[in-house]
Amino acid sequence: MSKQKVVVTGGAGFIGGNFVQYMVNKYQQYDIFNLDLLTYAGDLTKHKDIQNKDNYYFVKADIADREAIFNLFEQEKFDYVVHFAAESHVDRSITDPEVFVRTNVLGTQVLLDASKNINVKKFVHVSTDEVYGELDFDPTTFFTEETPLQPNSPYSASKASSDFLVRAYHETFGLPVNITRCSNNYGPYHFPEKLIPLTISRVLNEQKVPVYGDGKNIRDWLHVLDHCSAIDLVLHEGVNGEVYNVGGHNERTNLEVVKTIIKTLGKSEDLIEFVKDRLGHDMRYAIDPTKLEKLGWKPTYNFETGIAQTIQWYLDNQEWWEQILSGEYQSYFEKQYSI
Ligand code: NAD
Ligand code: TYD
Repeated sequence: MSKQKVVVTGGAGFIGGNFVQYMVNKYQQYDIFNLDLLTYAGDLTKHKDIQNKDNYYFVKADIADREAIFNLFEQEKFDYVVHFAAESHVDRSITDPEVFVRTNVLGTQVLLDASKNINVKKFVHVSTDEVYGELDFDPTTFFTEETPLQPNSPYSASKASSDFLVRAYHETFGLPVNITRCSNNYGPYHFPEKLIPLTISRVLNEQKVPVYGDGKNIRDWLHVLDHCSAIDLVLHEGVNGEVYNVGGHNERTNLEVVKTIIKTLGKSEDLIEFVKDRLGHDMRYAIDPTKLEKLGWKPTYNFETGIAQTIQWYLDNQEWWEQILSGEYQSYFEKQYSI
């Protein structure tokens, strides 16, 4: 019997990259295709340990390129699609929203059409809790799957739009889909424009760490490998058409996160610099993961164990993030921050 084929879009990025490695190592019976355009956020050096494995393939393609995606899907007849590819950084969506609509909305629609065309067995759409908008600081309130979608940034609006398209392809065409909405991830290979890797890399270089506003905004942090196991479970056990929230109740203010990293690295809190707040900055995200837990999911990291592992990973893999800091990223940082 021929092997089943799983195509992972965005498999050269942070979460998709971790997921590709997780799947290649866990499932010999699947061929794993990493489909990625290799934008500024994608890099293949992270896959040096799996790139020669028999069950790993890479295809460079743009998910919004209808002809290329249709040809690829017709040729490979994928069984499963796990869709991560996206523009993912809120700050970039504030300065340049258009590419977010092209990739996140149009790209998702192209993938849905191509998946419908070859009758895939499952399309897992990796979305975000940011589509729900923001919560206030009442610690007893959480996002559930029934929370109305009220996205506040161009990024989250583009993700919410793609969620609606995924839902519509299930309702209209019966495409077997799931949507996952996870809280903020952190862990190995996180691109250093995001808060946690940005803080680790700057603290290690004794550079100022920009904290937006008063630093009291709250995020709910999940280790990337716990997100990977959640998607694996949804891919195999998710009920078609259902949405699953993913999170592990690890709420922290941004200031708490930054201070934890500074303390672990033995540096001074004088490195913290409060800077102009992000436009439309969501106050608080917090996930109720009950539905996914009932499906059988349990995270393995809490914030303390996860952040310790992550800091150690950045210490051990300095050349990976230094190579990123020396590229296009430098001019992005200068434009984004004046510190
Ligand atoms: P990332 O920015 O690190 O990676 C995105 C990947 O997509 C990159 O490899 C990039 O090259 C690729 N890509 C971009 N445009 C493409 C295109 N047009 N065609 C093909 N590939 C393209 O993103 P991430 O943080 O790994 O997030 C992955 C997914 O998970 C996104 O859909 C995001 O919305 C979602 N998500 C992220 C978080 C988080 O905390 N980072 C939390 C919840 C959900
Ligand atoms: P980020 O990592 O960009 O994720 P998201 O916006 O998707 O939640 O930001 C996490 C939090 O950290 C968010 O509240 C914004 C804040 N932040 C800073 O204070 N300074 C920074 O330089 C960045 C990038 C983020």
